[in-house]
Amino acid sequence: MSAAQLELKSVEKVFGDSVAVHPTDLEVHDGEFLSIIGPSGCGKTTTLRMIAGLESPSAGRISFEGKDITTVPPHRREFGMVFQKFALFPHMDVAANIAYGLKLRKVSKREISARVDEMLERVGLTAFKHRNVTTLSGGQQQRVGIARALITKPRVVLLDEPTGALDAKLQLAMQSQLKQLQRDLGLTFIHVTHNQSEALAIADRVVVMNVGSIEQVGRPEEVFERPQTRHVAEFVGRNNILVGTVSSDGSTFSCALGELPLATPWPAGPATAVLRADAISVRPREGYPHRAEVELQALEYTGARVSWFTSAGGSDITVDVSTRATQSVAPELGNRYPIWLRPGELHLIDDHLTR
Ligand SMILES: Nc1ncnc2c1ncn2[C@@H]1O[C@H](COP(=O)(O)OP(=O)(O)OP(=O)(O)O)[C@@H](O)[C@H]1O
Ligand SMILES: [Mg+2]
Repeated sequence: MSAAQLELKSVEKVFGDSVAVHPTDLEVHDGEFLSIIGPSGCGKTTTLRMIAGLESPSAGRISFEGKDITTVPPHRREFGMVFQKFALFPHMDVAANIAYGLKLRKVSKREISARVDEMLERVGLTAFKHRNVTTLSGGQQQRVGIARALITKPRVVLLDEPTGALDAKLQLAMQSQLKQLQRDLGLTFIHVTHNQSEALAIADRVVVMNVGSIEQVGRPEEVFERPQTRHVAEFVGRNNILVGTVSSDGSTFSCALGELPLATPWPAGPATAVLRADAISVRPREGYPHRAEVELQALEYTGARVSWFTSAGGSDITVDVSTRATQSVAPELGNRYPIWLRPGELHLIDDHLTR
């Protein structure tokens, strides 16, 4: 991977006596799509605003292409910005909204006109060029917001919940448009969302935050398949957290689902493991040698899949299975059912609660 384009070193933000962002290190690479996810109040917006220069860090350093920009004001950083509330100029039409940044920069009328037309084309709004922005739908307004941020050809684009105000279907459509724009233009996107599936779908790397700290940074499949902390496991995907004990030789983990072999040894003693809800089978299956029994307590039908909320040895276990697989089992609440596991899917995490 290329060297970092943007770098945060021990960047911290304190408001009064509360810490919004604990000292944080982060490297962002040229041309990557980075998504920051995490629950409400975990410090996503604050982190983005410090990168934008809208908030100054209480401590630490931010550098861009090797230069310290910690105290450089926002307009001199020349990063593009897209916010959840699009903050368009209501008295201006679409073209004037998009042209705004170029006008400020005293670009010639001719060039403005050419670049606005090109940008309208890119975001699919050519037919709306002279419409007043207040008459546009949410999705159209959002595309104006994006076009306005991109028109000045910023090297880095910061997006704070850019699809937050849209309905679910439009969100999906905008996600792929954003990804396409970012690829076509070769820009660095730093995108904040609390929607984990949006981040997994469009990001090159995902940053998972919790109470002011980064807990994990990785490719979407790394974060999804191998969450490294309890919070990441609970926030990304649907995971079972199993508390148990690693044997004295470090080779097995004993928990509510029995004694499970470990793929890689782990220090003996109390430990926490993560098992994805969709890595459990309700039928005997090749490669799923370990059998356990659970009591079915609730079912949740979501279309192609069904979630079984079960318990085993006092622990809650969620099993996500395909609706077809469930049909042959005909589950009834209160009954006990066998489940089959693939121990390779189990991985142990560093969890202060069991250390
Ligand atoms: N200007 C401010 N003054 C005081 N506290 C603030 C200020 N801005 C943010 N905070 C606090 O800092 C913490 C982090 O806020 P932030 O807006 O970064 O969260 P977030 O992750 O973006 O959440 P959300 O998903 O709800 O947008 C919160 O506890 C918030 O109340
Ligand atoms: Mg926010």
